[in-house]
Amino acid sequence: MKINISIFVMILLLSYNYAVTAQEELFALNPLEGRQVFKNKGCQNCHAIRGQGGKVAMDLGRNEYYGNAFDLAADLWNHSPIMQEVMAEMNIKRPVFEEDEMKQLMLYLYYLRYLNKTGNVLKGKKLLSEKGCYNCHKVRDIGNEIGPRLDKLPTHVSPLFMAQTMWNHGPEMADKMHELNLPWPKFENDDIVDLTNYLRILRKDAQPEEMYTNPGNPQKGKELIKSKGCLNCHTVQGQGSEIAIDLTEIEFNRNVTEMAGLLWNHGERMLVSMKKKKIAWPKFKDEEMGDLISYLYYLDFMESGGNVGRGEELFDNKGCASCHNTKAKTETAGPAISEFESLTSPVKLTQIMWNHAPDMEIKMKKMELDWPELTKNDIEDIYNFLSARKVLTGKN
Ligand code: HEC
Ligand code: HEC
Ligand code: HEC
Ligand code: HEC
Repeated sequence: MKINISIFVMILLLSYNYAVTAQEELFALNPLEGRQVFKNKGCQNCHAIRGQGGKVAMDLGRNEYYGNAFDLAADLWNHSPIMQEVMAEMNIKRPVFEEDEMKQLMLYLYYLRYLNKTGNVLKGKKLLSEKGCYNCHKVRDIGNEIGPRLDKLPTHVSPLFMAQTMWNHGPEMADKMHELNLPWPKFENDDIVDLTNYLRILRKDAQPEEMYTNPGNPQKGKELIKSKGCLNCHTVQGQGSEIAIDLTEIEFNRNVTEMAGLLWNHGERMLVSMKKKKIAWPKFKDEEMGDLISYLYYLDFMESGGNVGRGEELFDNKGCASCHNTKAKTETAGPAISEFESLTSPVKLTQIMWNHAPDMEIKMKKMELDWPELTKNDIEDIYNFLSARKVLTGKN
């Protein structure tokens, strides 16, 4: 049940970001509902999620599928004609979405990649020597005992817990590394998951299901960014210092442990610069590292750097304006922008574009127009343009 509660808080955070959405409707959300929407709307007929479901099209839970709200919007739009065609062939009725359903679906798909894969134990074993851990740690009968043994970690150790523990011991490890002239080990991809998996199987009483625990509470994470001193050097959502990069600008298309790895990797430089400034090393307890990461992760879902002017150009260049224009009163014309439904979020735009796509396709065919391909940035710009225009015309 833990997961549901944190997701609920994530949603709350999201709603906070686009402020306009009423809070009540968000209470019903949790990722399992998104799974249900995926099933109920028939996506499962053609797509699998991590191996479960149809084999007609790609697995949407596969690890390469990374997308925030705008990526998803672009993917759904660009693939709309082909999906429509395959649905017709298979005699599947194209589903129509309520805004809430689209939101659940999109958050569910977005959340999938945040979960870790199950790690590779053999690779984990190899990493212990490749990353130089044996120089200071003993595991079974290999290695030195400069630091504590690593085969006695708690049975419920998760990759995130492991990353957090290392992080907390960072300054002491760094001192020893300095003494012994060893490099700060760097992690990429699923290194931490693999390592943790190997260390776990050394404990016969380990519980595998613990691997997928709490995805973190972004609302708490938002507070932690402040209380842990990250804002001494970083900017987040316009607050903080400009010594280091704006954390909002990093693309976190990584899973939770890869993100923990990213944090760890920069620990060495951070430590040096903190010593200079006499700032204490921030330590994390309980679920704190997960909370902090989940906040950074969910910032990316709605990442918005769209450009209104470029959106307007695109609306022309991609042919949208030829049908969505107050003056266009031809039989193929669609509603004028001022008549569009209120665009309260990118999810809303995705929902109405999905629902109206079949009709738009028919009309485009009549006008001998090709289906316009839109990139993630295109959608973002168009979204910004349409929202701004609606505000200007006072019909939002
Ligand atoms: C009748 C089969 C069918 C159904 C039902 C279907 N799709 Fe698709 N989907 C496809 C096909 C075919 C493609 C394009 C495959 C390609 O381009 O190789 C696709 C592509 C996609 C993509 C792009 C993925 C990428 O990596 O580029 C997304 C996202 C997607 N579908 C989501 C959905 C969702 C969400 C639903 C349910 C509302 C759904 N699909 C229902 C057949 C289907
Ligand atoms: C240069 C020596 C050194 C290297 C190399 C090193 N560590 Fe450490 N590590 C330490 C020391 C010393 C401590 C204890 C620090 C303290 O007392 O706070 C420690 C603590 C830890 C802890 C906390 C253990 C506990 O029981 O609380 C973990 C987990 C850990 N290291 C993992 C690793 C991993 C994984 C690697 C390889 C990627 C590694 N360490 C490489 C010296 C090192
Ligand atoms: C003393 C200054 C300082 C503090 C405090 C600090 N950072 Fe950084 N951080 C940096 C610098 C400098 C970089 C630039 C990249 C590097 O040096 O590795 C960076 C980079 C990063 C990156 C990007 C790493 C990459 O490889 O792209 C992340 C993520 C990050 N910091 C998160 C945090 C978080 C979370 C906190 C708070 C717990 C924090 N930082 C606190 C200085 C700091
Ligand atoms: C060939 C004409 C045509 C083109 C080109 C076209 N549309 Fe449409 N659009 C329509 C029609 C017709 C509707 C109403 C469809 C319906 O009622 O189901 C519509 C509906 C919409 C809606 C839903 C409006 C609402 O709130 O009811 C949106 C959003 C939209 N289009 C966006 C776009 C964008 C963005 C483009 C360019 C990438 C575009 N359209 C290109 C004809 C077109």
